[in-house]
Amino acid sequence: MSATADLNGTRDASTTAHLVRLGKKHVTNGLGRLTDGIMSRGEGSYVEYEDGRRLLDFTSGIGVTSLGHCHPKVSKAAADQCLTLVHAQCSIAFHKPYLQLVERLLPMMPHPSLDSFFFWNSGSEAVEAAIKLARVATGRQHIICMQGGYHGRTFGAMAVTKSKTIYSEGVFPVMPGVFTMPYPYWHQHNLPPSTPAEVLVNQSLYQLELLLAQQTAPKDTAAIIVEPLLGEGGYVPAPPAFLHGLREVCDAHGILLIADEVQSGFARTGKYFMVEHSGVRPDIMVIAKGLANGFPLSGVVSRKPLTDHLKPGTMGGTYAGNAVSCAAAVAVADAFKEENILENVKERSHELRNSLEALRSDPDVAPYVLDVRGEGLMLAVEFTSPDTRVAGALAKADSPPGLATRVVHACIERGLLILTTSAYEVVRFIPPLNISKHDLKHGAEIFGEAVRAVLKE
Ligand SMILES: Cc1ncc(COP(=O)(O)O)c(C=O)c1O
Repeated sequence: MSATADLNGTRDASTTAHLVRLGKKHVTNGLGRLTDGIMSRGEGSYVEYEDGRRLLDFTSGIGVTSLGHCHPKVSKAAADQCLTLVHAQCSIAFHKPYLQLVERLLPMMPHPSLDSFFFWNSGSEAVEAAIKLARVATGRQHIICMQGGYHGRTFGAMAVTKSKTIYSEGVFPVMPGVFTMPYPYWHQHNLPPSTPAEVLVNQSLYQLELLLAQQTAPKDTAAIIVEPLLGEGGYVPAPPAFLHGLREVCDAHGILLIADEVQSGFARTGKYFMVEHSGVRPDIMVIAKGLANGFPLSGVVSRKPLTDHLKPGTMGGTYAGNAVSCAAAVAVADAFKEENILENVKERSHELRNSLEALRSDPDVAPYVLDVRGEGLMLAVEFTSPDTRVAGALAKADSPPGLATRVVHACIERGLLILTTSAYEVVRFIPPLNISKHDLKHGAEIFGEAVRAVLKE
């Protein structure tokens, strides 16, 4: 009998409480945590805690378990690989799942020129590798990134992360040679939420023009890194004209365009990659999260003439492209097709958006909602805050403070696991891509109830 369960399967509360106390004392304070307790099981769209709570999971482990928790085919592929070969180090030999994964991903790429792969472990590491590739391939050093962008917590990735100061507070200097331009998000321009996309795009591209004229000469600029759908910065889709504008600037000056699709990739937005909505071709694409449904795996994809600039040995890492993770990712790619995931994302996205818009049109709620936005199953609601300024004036000085966080906790109390994002009052929706109509509706109802309850407090 396990230490945490008796013969009837009920949990030993004292053991759980002991472990939680141990965690609070001995796990680094540097980790934030949304919920208390121990998450012990996951199945499909639900997670269970040791204390018996069962929550509908609209976080997907921050956009990772896109096929739901413990997808039977993905978990089986990983388990089989565990009993065959766990670690075939990538600098010692090829292994089969690595190559099978390349074979699966090639036809999924947003452009046929993206034909050269390197697999890593985390999104941050892949961002670092993309920057390294851009610097080596162009012989230039500078990187332009977006105000509000998030690319990870390692030193290079942190240098191009501009979504919140907490990620780099107290640890400068980070990687030098980084310049920042505004994303076409109304907050970044101090404009109201109703500002037409065209105005935001023009403002952002004008700032890029200034940056290249006044701060970083094009001949010193290796790459522009952009999330085609701003993630940790607020769940803001880039208008297609913005990505086209970046592409034009890159082409005019020999600068490389890096699309960070870590959060927006792998069907999350209703297409395999967010850049497909605009048709813009990146020179380098960074992938992770949904790629292996929870097994640690990320990747950098580019075109062979660029990656041929890399001398053998310049890329690599002990665990890079782990065989178990690659086997899981092969199963994920197969499941996407077998289970018509793209279709499900489109249908469920439509339903969720309708339900969020219906909530927003409730006269009791409307004054507190600034925006409903996103793409596919990467949607968000932005609430007012007492100190959100729009065009210099307070948007809603009498707004209750901390609405997003309070709504999230009210959702959790009612059985829905959900997250905030950004420096603003934003709640994000990243449910599994294969979520059922029923579960999606249930989650949206809980959210509506939670919002109404918080606004009455
Ligand atoms: C767009 C984007 N890039 C990079 C990262 C960093 O990935 P990781 O946390 O795996 O290092 C994230 C993580 O949330 C992300 O959303």
